[in-house]
Amino acid sequence: MENKPSDKKKALMERYAHRFGAMRVRTLSHLGLDIFETERDGCWSRDIDGRKILDALSLQGVFNLGRRHPIIVEVMRKGMERLDLGNNFLMSEEQLTLADKLAATTPGNINCAFFSSTGSEAVDLAIKIARGYSGRSGIISANECYHGITGFALSTNSNPDYIEPFGPLMPGFSHVPFGDIDALRNEISQDTAAVIFEPMIAEAGLLIPPADYFFKVRELCDEHDTLLIIDEVVTGLGRTGKFWGIEHSSGVVPDIMITAKGLTAGMYPMAATMFTEEVADFFLTYPYSHYSSTGGSDLGCLIASAMIDIVNQPEFLQNINKKGQQLAAGYEQLMINHPAILESYRQVGMHTVLRLADPAGGFRMNRYLADEGVFALLATNNTAAIRIQPPFIISEKEIDQIIDALDAALKKM
Ligand SMILES: Cc1ncc(COP(=O)(O)O)c(C=O)c1O
Repeated sequence: MENKPSDKKKALMERYAHRFGAMRVRTLSHLGLDIFETERDGCWSRDIDGRKILDALSLQGVFNLGRRHPIIVEVMRKGMERLDLGNNFLMSEEQLTLADKLAATTPGNINCAFFSSTGSEAVDLAIKIARGYSGRSGIISANECYHGITGFALSTNSNPDYIEPFGPLMPGFSHVPFGDIDALRNEISQDTAAVIFEPMIAEAGLLIPPADYFFKVRELCDEHDTLLIIDEVVTGLGRTGKFWGIEHSSGVVPDIMITAKGLTAGMYPMAATMFTEEVADFFLTYPYSHYSSTGGSDLGCLIASAMIDIVNQPEFLQNINKKGQQLAAGYEQLMINHPAILESYRQVGMHTVLRLADPAGGFRMNRYLADEGVFALLATNNTAAIRIQPPFIISEKEIDQIIDALDAALKKM
């Protein structure tokens, strides 16, 4: 069902194009995502023209708990009666509580934290700590990675669409194909401060490395006294059916981990860089070398603590896996229904990606899904892939609706 915008919406789009760029509006329209969100609740939001949209993406993890989760809204409402950003130059009990809760979830002795507002900032800090701590400059990331938009984070990227206009980027950064341990072995050296990877890369169509990959990565890092940074901005907080994605390589302990997006359940901007006590020694020498005026907000810490209390429960995580199985059963049927169009699907928990036979099929699929009232997004580093990452609170019926919409969209393909 194609949706023609009302005159009111058309006027808004024109104004929007004027303020934020015509190309942005054109791209959104092309993908069928020319939506002005008004109401939002659970897995649904409403366009200004009244159309309801089912969320199959969770903004890559920001809305893991859906929109305006009632417990989170209540915690925030109560928090606002007594808190604000807090004075990040001083100390607060809210920060301490969140750091305690995070430390209880992370592997090994990743017991220290620094809070900021966005994932990119948190990645920047991870790389700063690695360089400061090691006195080396080399940073190795995956060819297919995306770790954010700020200076150090952007320098990990090798996709020309993101970096070409801004070069030259920071020196010392190099890239290897994800999952290829020999490539990493050839690249790593005594100059390498850190290796930074996601546990699996959805941006590239959900690249899942061989089962022993991270054990070998850890070994190589240890051999070269190199730090291992794991970016859990998308994979963390339950998305893969475990609280952290790296737990799928049980026993591997990174030196630094990063979380953001869903940390504050879509109600507040907040991120965390978490690191070992050993690495934290860097701050003994340079205690105020990194600071953020609005990061580490007391209100944000309160919300993040409430989010952890909800998600980090065995039954909650089991339920994510159960919903993942329902999605998988749907995908299996779609593979039978559309063998020539749907090539494969990849999945860990509710971290799922469909791969189309058409190398640029993600664009059309995006559009056709939007026509069916479902918001998903193609993978930006693999236009044959479409990410399906619904909120954890999605119902069985809503999962069926996503599968039905996928079926209809694949028929149109
Ligand atoms: C894996 C990963 N790391 C870091 C970031 C950057 O996070 P933010 O957009 O909050 O700066 C993103 C954003 O999509 C991401 O996917």
